[in-house]
Amino acid sequence: MTLSNAYRDFITTFPSYGATYAVDLLRAQEFSRLDEHGHVYLDYTGGCLYPLSLVQEHAALLEASILGNPHSQNPASQASTRLLEKARADVLRYFRADPDEYLVIFTANASGGLKLLGESYPFSSGGQFLLVADNHNSVHGIREYARRAGAAITYVPLDPDTLRAPDIEPYLAHPGDGGSRLFAFPAQSNFSGVQHPLRWVELARAYGYDVLLDAAAFVPTNRLDLGQVQPDFVPVSFYKMFGYPTGIGCLLARRQALAKLRRPWFAGGTVKLVSTKADLHLLASGQEAFEEGTVNYLGVPAVSAGLRLLDAIGIETVHERVLALTAYFLDALRALRHSSGSPLVHIYGPLDNAQRGATIAFNLVDAHGDHFPYQQIEAEANTANLSVRAGCFCNPGAGEYSLTHTADEVRRCVQLAIPDGQIVPTAEFDLHRFHQCIGDKPTGAVRISFGLASNFADAYRALNFLATFRDRPARHDFTERGC
Ligand SMILES: Cc1ncc(COP(=O)(O)O)c(C=O)c1O
Repeated sequence: MTLSNAYRDFITTFPSYGATYAVDLLRAQEFSRLDEHGHVYLDYTGGCLYPLSLVQEHAALLEASILGNPHSQNPASQASTRLLEKARADVLRYFRADPDEYLVIFTANASGGLKLLGESYPFSSGGQFLLVADNHNSVHGIREYARRAGAAITYVPLDPDTLRAPDIEPYLAHPGDGGSRLFAFPAQSNFSGVQHPLRWVELARAYGYDVLLDAAAFVPTNRLDLGQVQPDFVPVSFYKMFGYPTGIGCLLARRQALAKLRRPWFAGGTVKLVSTKADLHLLASGQEAFEEGTVNYLGVPAVSAGLRLLDAIGIETVHERVLALTAYFLDALRALRHSSGSPLVHIYGPLDNAQRGATIAFNLVDAHGDHFPYQQIEAEANTANLSVRAGCFCNPGAGEYSLTHTADEVRRCVQLAIPDGQIVPTAEFDLHRFHQCIGDKPTGAVRISFGLASNFADAYRALNFLATFRDRPARHDFTERGC
């Protein structure tokens, strides 16, 4: 079927896509380089592409301004401070967060915000860190702070088919003995696209938990309204939302919850006073106690411009478009079959659009039921000028549940792949042996995600590419790569 015929069928089935025409204009104005290079970009969960005007607008601002380190009081410094505070206010406004309730701490990325929280959270024996298995490694890493402090670490498991979590109330109701409790979940999985229920926020708070809502994979194509739902801590990375600048994220934090945190050290910019002779320090208040050193004061003004761009196009419009593409793509993936009638695609997670975002993980299976190595699919996609993501996407929990790796299997195979079998984080590790030991099960997947500049042609070309695997045998000579 030609692209135009396929588009006609698509728009008949998904007429709401027609109302997102503004994104086609945006694509033509801001991302024409994609079509000029014949490039199909499908890794928006990895990072959004930068719109041309954000780069140009930022360059123009820098050309016209005199911006100094905001920690001083001179005119150049004051100019930076004004832009910094404007960006802070813009972030609060964009997320509809009440400034009396929330603060914005600028960080290098979402992981930076998560680390600030992990190292400062008052974990203690008697306390708890509760998290769903479907989380990014930068959330899982917080468990090491919890462990060191003697807090209990509890995982909420996933259903291997839907990759959704079960009723979380029994987990929340687990009695502790009065220590602080933190509950963490992603608003949207960066592996499967599953959107976990935002009502968990209030539920967990009612059980006395502080709630960390990882919104990094959610906010690029969904509205997060902090007037409606009020998690205690929300990390985001701005490059995932509008592509430019990289190296800037923030932790949105409820003022009350922030007051519970204890900074493990101090740094330039985070203190009111330090004495070397009296060996004392007094921390600055609010976000200042967390913004270590000099913030990226030249880059932060570009955040205001990025939010303006999203407001102009409307995040709801982007949302409508990527969900139409996702529904179409899921249906088409399921329809891809070998001549024998056996399915070509094994999709991980939800097969329809209910409570999910525009991120789809899958593997290809040949007519004999053997998985094509994800590395083969990635390599061929590269040759066809398609940018997809392959591997485990830093989400080992969703990976283990979908690829059916058991705890015993993982432990045994990791032990086998370490020369002296001692599992310590610094051990030498032979990934190839590990994967050999895991055997026939896949050790990763392919991920396609739609975002700000996606259009129907991207989805169509990706499907045509995947269809080239029909009736071909899987190869077994690809070198494994770590997650
Ligand atoms: C859900 C989620 N959380 C956290 C992160 C970490 O973001 P960053 O690498 O920008 O710190 C990512 C990145 O992909 C993510 O998808």
